[in-house]
Amino acid sequence: MKYFYLSFLCCMLLNCKQNISAVKKLDVERPDPHSFSQPQLARTTHLELDIECDFEQKKIKGIATYDIEQKEAIEIILDDLGLNIQEVKLIDDHNNESNTEIRMDAPDSTLGTAVHIALQKNTKKIKIKYESGPDATALQWLNPLQTNSKRYPYLFTQSQSIFARSWIPCQDGPGIRFTYHAKVKVPVGMMAAMSATNPQEKSANGQYEFNMEIPIPAYLMALAVGDFYFKPIGLRTGVYADSSVLDKAVWEFADLEKMVVAAEQLYGPYPWTRYDVIVLPSSFPFGGMENPRLTFLTPTVITSDRSLTSLLAHELAHSWSGNLVTNSTWEDFWLNEGFTTYFENRIMESLYGKSYADMLSLLGFQDLQKAIIELGDTSELTKLKLNLKDKDPEEALTDIAYEKGKMLLRYLEERIGRNEWDGFLKSYFNHFKFQSNTSEGFLKYLYTYFPKLEKGIQDTTNHWVYDPGLIGYSPHFENSRFINVEKQVNLFAISPSKYKLESGKWSTHEWIHFFRHLPKDSSGQIRNNLEMQYHFSLTGNSELAFCWINYLIENGIKDQEMEQVEKFLLSVGRRKYVLPIYENLSKNGRLKDSKAFFEKAKEGYHPITKNSIQNLLYPKI
Ligand code: BES
Ligand code: ZN
Repeated sequence: MKYFYLSFLCCMLLNCKQNISAVKKLDVERPDPHSFSQPQLARTTHLELDIECDFEQKKIKGIATYDIEQKEAIEIILDDLGLNIQEVKLIDDHNNESNTEIRMDAPDSTLGTAVHIALQKNTKKIKIKYESGPDATALQWLNPLQTNSKRYPYLFTQSQSIFARSWIPCQDGPGIRFTYHAKVKVPVGMMAAMSATNPQEKSANGQYEFNMEIPIPAYLMALAVGDFYFKPIGLRTGVYADSSVLDKAVWEFADLEKMVVAAEQLYGPYPWTRYDVIVLPSSFPFGGMENPRLTFLTPTVITSDRSLTSLLAHELAHSWSGNLVTNSTWEDFWLNEGFTTYFENRIMESLYGKSYADMLSLLGFQDLQKAIIELGDTSELTKLKLNLKDKDPEEALTDIAYEKGKMLLRYLEERIGRNEWDGFLKSYFNHFKFQSNTSEGFLKYLYTYFPKLEKGIQDTTNHWVYDPGLIGYSPHFENSRFINVEKQVNLFAISPSKYKLESGKWSTHEWIHFFRHLPKDSSGQIRNNLEMQYHFSLTGNSELAFCWINYLIENGIKDQEMEQVEKFLLSVGRRKYVLPIYENLSKNGRLKDSKAFFEKAKEGYHPITKNSIQNLLYPKI
């Protein structure tokens, strides 16, 4: 790899004392393909963050001071994606500050830049003055008109997988953990919250302080600043949201405390003290993000019928699988998401029963089958253990990690027996707590814990982890509710104008299954009758709006129906919904409309969503 030295600039800015050539390139294999840091030589253990959110300039500005652990390393390496680093100082064991030199490698378009900071033998801390750049991938700055209250602007971060480095210089690999204390200054009248201990009321002067005394990886660094308020749900659970959403959210998430109790009964005490959630503006690019102590949520989870709360169970489950025991690198992403998807379902089963939980599992299994067909059953990307060298970690983000990972755990549960299996999981979380783990570490622990595990089960387990496709195993699901839906679809499809669906008690999941089984509609009869009876064009349930819009697009959408699509794309920024709609439009002869909608909507999208759609509609050759 080529390096370029910002020697002139560095010496000007940093008032360097050393000769720049004293810092040599270290020829060490990187343990994590997506981080330049070399924690085995020098690593960050604690962060003191002192920042200001400048809404005028759309910049985070401030100072990051790290405690470091080093074994006489000549440098420490941090990750940086588009930051403006202005000054770096070393602090020694007597608290004396001194200048140093830094060197930046040529940037990689995905990973950003390695910042090499020369160390002295007695360096205990490094202090970095910096600002975020104009295109910081993790940050979305909303102006007041883009928010519900229209009174204040909004800022929120999304650090997973490798975007923490776009708002804090850091060792941005999931295998490196640090504690943090943050001072954050925001405009007076605004509230701030982080993945840490949080205030429950606005401060009078716009100053906030946060503590995360349990070490976390950088991808769990999170900040939200806006006009939002807090209401409790249970003793250690609550919700932050703007005033127009707060009460609805409290109602929707009423079972949150019960979920925490159910999770604890399964796999041990909740390790992070409080569990709160924040409902973000609709441009939040994901369904949820498991930032410790404060899950970030899309408002599309609020349906007024509590039908999408498995998402809460999912993010809560990450408090164990992901936040407590973390994948070492993104190549073992399934350890985070597969375990969590399994655990989520166990929480749902314990609150709402097996038939409800199995209905959710069946939809997930359908997603898995679809993903394997789309990727190809020999594709490398259908393995659980991935090789992501020279690849964007975004490539790991498929249903494989979630649903194939979950299926493996379900398979093991069936073979081993639920009680024994739960004992194993509890012990696994306890054994690896506050550490990162690899697929190999998991397998070794599994085979050591169950020394008499049949050879056949071991072989199958290894296949699941290291081989592509699905390994012949069909889990048993209780599916009477879906069988009924399939009967109804068939009867309805034969005579859509006459048959009255018996759908009175259907949940969102039954409707999703219904849409997945609807036949093609060449005459338009099916959708006209559906619209007449159910008014799907007006639904406030984003999951159903998504099904409906895709059904229209795949069945020759009419010009007058495009308005609904535009409205949806302009009001929702969750990537899971909008990206497939843009893709579907492009594939079904509506590329021009798709591009036109994107041009209108993109200002409101988070950079993560915007970049994905940009790459889809305007692929780089
Ligand atoms: N941690 C993920 C979100 C994520 C993964 C963000 C990888 C960036 C990179 C979160 O827990 C998640 O899985 N969210 C899902 C919801 C879930 C119920 C499947 C989502 O956002 O759709
Ligand atoms: Zn997840």
